[in-house]
Amino acid sequence: MLDKLSVSDASPITAATSPLASAPDTAPLVAGAATPSTAPLATGAAASGTAATLDTLLAIRYPLMQGGMAQIATGRFAAAVSEAGALGIIAAGAKSAAQLREEIQTLRAITERPFGVNVMLMAPDVTEIAAVLVEERVPVITTGAGNPAAYIEAWKNAGCKVIPVVPSVALAQRMQRFGADAVIAEGTESGGHVGETTTMALVPQVSAALTIPTVAAGGIASGRQLCAAFALGACGAQMGTALLVSEECPIHENYKTALLKARDTGTTVTGRVTGTPVRLLKNQMAREYLKLEQTGASRDQFEELALGSLRRAALEGDQQRGSFMAGQVAGQLTQIEPLAKIFARIMTEYRQVREGLPTL
Ligand SMILES: Cc1cc2nc3c(=O)[nH]c(=O)nc-3n(C[C@H](O)[C@H](O)[C@H](O)COP(=O)(O)O)c2cc1C
Repeated sequence: MLDKLSVSDASPITAATSPLASAPDTAPLVAGAATPSTAPLATGAAASGTAATLDTLLAIRYPLMQGGMAQIATGRFAAAVSEAGALGIIAAGAKSAAQLREEIQTLRAITERPFGVNVMLMAPDVTEIAAVLVEERVPVITTGAGNPAAYIEAWKNAGCKVIPVVPSVALAQRMQRFGADAVIAEGTESGGHVGETTTMALVPQVSAALTIPTVAAGGIASGRQLCAAFALGACGAQMGTALLVSEECPIHENYKTALLKARDTGTTVTGRVTGTPVRLLKNQMAREYLKLEQTGASRDQFEELALGSLRRAALEGDQQRGSFMAGQVAGQLTQIEPLAKIFARIMTEYRQVREGLPTL
């Protein structure tokens, strides 16, 4: 049941420090006082330099969130991300409502920091999953693969912030109309399910079309790319691929090794023909899928190849038959590091790049 909960019942969100000022990480917030967790997110693009950034909006340390990653983003992993200063997100995809509740409880036993849950709206038991999010008063909900309109009101009444992932301006505008607090504009560079438009082209168009904040996703793995995301009008960034090579990420070693070996051209997109485009590392599985697309194979043949393939990659490290979903930034990943180091490095590089930009 999606019963209404009082707004003040929302999960506690601690005060944040902003890493965006040049001062040390413990400096006070740049853009005014911390927004209470239940307040609507501020409007306007961050490009002006005056609008609130994601760290302030979500009361976290860095303007960074971890993307939901089905089969990978467990409660323990999301807790580690939140502890390291970004927003950790549990992926509900492929989990039952009961399993999701357990993951949320696991996270809460590890951290009191804000976190989110990513809901894949195609999931057959999405109504039960949506109800768990209300009952657990999850601070942030991101959604993928569909339209969350039917659930937004109940989630917001429970004090949750709702941030759908969008691949186009049209869907972004619809999400704003339905009451979303912000959107994640995800470019085709990203790992996993992808749209057509690049981050470079999508983020400025989405942020210009909306009054709610835009988070950039797809192709962000460094301070240089974070700097670009702000320049494009985003208030922060969501990252997936770059966090797969964190020490804490619970994927098979073969997955991490494949990512470290990948070059800039190391990914491809399968499923353009079947209507479910997915970006992943090139391997035997990807090549076979693309070949099937050329021969006009049946739906059953595609399903036989793809079913369980992300699981085979993430848990078993099956280099032949696994789908190693990854974005184009795989080519720039060089080492396995703790999450805290990854985020700190990105923020240090962000400041250096910002300082070095031409003044013209
Ligand atoms: C292995 C993998 C699994 C993913 N699974 C999901 C998912 O379950 N739900 C979702 O909304 N996005 C999913 N994504 C997309 C990420 O949440 C994120 O938006 C994306 O990775 C950002 O682009 P990047 O890979 O260039 O950092 C996935 C991405 C990867 C790499």
